[in-house]
Amino acid sequence: MQKIIIASDHGGYNLKNQIINHLKETDAEVEDYGCYNTESCDYPLYAQKVADVVSKNPDIKGILVCGTGIGMSIAANRYKNVRASHCTDTFSARMTRMHNDSNILCLGERITGAGLALDIVDIWLNTAFEGGRHKKRIDMI
Ligand code: RB5
Repeated sequence: MQKIIIASDHGGYNLKNQIINHLKETDAEVEDYGCYNTESCDYPLYAQKVADVVSKNPDIKGILVCGTGIGMSIAANRYKNVRASHCTDTFSARMTRMHNDSNILCLGERITGAGLALDIVDIWLNTAFEGGRHKKRIDMI
């Protein structure tokens, strides 16, 4: 079973809950690392919680949601072994799994509507890494 850890700041709180509800209908095991309400908070702290775990556990994938998805991706990509991808479309979600072996998906609640965001999540979770020449390139990072 795929374990997914998820977190947001206040700007991504509502979309995060929609993603959690959606994932609960699948086989995935989901753990919510906060935030737990819409009070203003600092996205780097939530990026850190998820990125730190993903960095040390290759079998765990992360999802981070903020207003744009950009702050979360900047913060998460500071952690070793983390390949956080900010996606606003399904093609990017598929390609970043196939070519970048993305292990954290970043979404922006103020950019991407829930319908599209859930499609992005599904495609990102269900697309395999191609390996081969892409593995060599990841090892160069
Ligand atoms: C919070 O207002 C907002 O700055 C944050 O959610 C995120 O979009 C940062 O990149």
